[in-house]
Amino acid sequence: MEKKSIVLVTGGAGFIGSNLCEFLLDEGYQVVCLDNFSTGKPENIQQHFTNPSFRLVVGDIRNPEDCRKAVEGVDYVLHEAALGSVPRSIKDPVTTNAVNISGFLNMLVAARDAGVKRFVYAASSSTYGDSASLPKVEEVIGKPLSPYAVTKYVNELYADVFSKTYGIECIGLRYFNVFGRRQDPNGAYAAVIPLFVKQLIDHQSPVINGDGEYSRDFTYIENVILMNKLALTTQNKEAVNTVYNTAFGERTTLNQLVGYLQEYLSEFDPEIAKVEIKHGPNRLGDIPHSLASIDKAKRLLGYQPSFNMRDGLKEAVRWYWQNLK
Ligand SMILES: NC(=O)c1ccc[n+]([C@@H]2O[C@H](COP(=O)([O-])OP(=O)(O)OC[C@H]3O[C@@H](n4cnc5c(N)ncnc54)[C@H](O)[C@@H]3O)[C@@H](O)[C@H]2O)c1
Repeated sequence: MEKKSIVLVTGGAGFIGSNLCEFLLDEGYQVVCLDNFSTGKPENIQQHFTNPSFRLVVGDIRNPEDCRKAVEGVDYVLHEAALGSVPRSIKDPVTTNAVNISGFLNMLVAARDAGVKRFVYAASSSTYGDSASLPKVEEVIGKPLSPYAVTKYVNELYADVFSKTYGIECIGLRYFNVFGRRQDPNGAYAAVIPLFVKQLIDHQSPVINGDGEYSRDFTYIENVILMNKLALTTQNKEAVNTVYNTAFGERTTLNQLVGYLQEYLSEFDPEIAKVEIKHGPNRLGDIPHSLASIDKAKRLLGYQPSFNMRDGLKEAVRWYWQNLK
């Protein structure tokens, strides 16, 4: 991809999107950000407001006109806008469906009509659903366990059909439990790492759902940025119109995670090591274990993740300590 290309990042004011905007601007690309600030925040991108290479479109992907406006003159799309969270989708499947499926389709149509060169989108490890096989390989999926998982799977089906029917290049990145700077610790649907970090900093007890032996392939944001970069720039024709696990390829239990968090945070405040950890019931729609095979990304995209979970966690914890205290 030649420098100075214009990249649209939808959901660019959110956790992953704002990190992608920052990365692309640093690399010399022009960036358009489309966001309705439903879960994203202006403060995540406000440092770019005076940058002439940055354009903000406040709009909603449920509105085709907003999608058309945002994609005008754009070369590439990184589609991150969606309503995340399995519990949110269980509580309100209709809104999750409207944003994650209708919004996705609106963006695909707008990208096709604007002649966008490539459409890279946020898929999800939730697509593995009830498949028990480990590690997860892209070709073996189970049945979805939540409305959210349905929406992310439907995204993959639409992308596949659009690439075959209209010739638009699409790449889906199945993110596995991403964490890092700017992930929101607040609200009913906060992800587990920022939520626990905030609670520990406040000397409140984190509550682990279940016995804590469920495991996840927690993935640091730098690895996700790298996968987006590789997906945008690959010249390998075999590497497009498919999906990739986006992970480090190691699993950590919730009990281990909390142990690391207490260890790293107690370097800033020794009292945090003494905070009591509590356990609650298992959560509906949660899969017991998640671990990615990253062989496909290595083989076709040349992916070599640079941050293992613990190195990423140390960086994330430092960022939260500086920004939440
Ligand atoms: N964080 C993870 O672990 C993870 C895992 C798997 C997949 N994903 C996917 O990655 C993407 C980014 O997730 P995130 O963690 O950064 O979440 P986030 O909530 O921080 O970011 C989502 C962004 O999309 C915006 N948005 C939501 N609805 C919109 C709409 N109707 N119109 C325009 N903008 C809208 C929000 O305001 C927000 O800025 C999502 O598609 C999510 O499903 C994330």
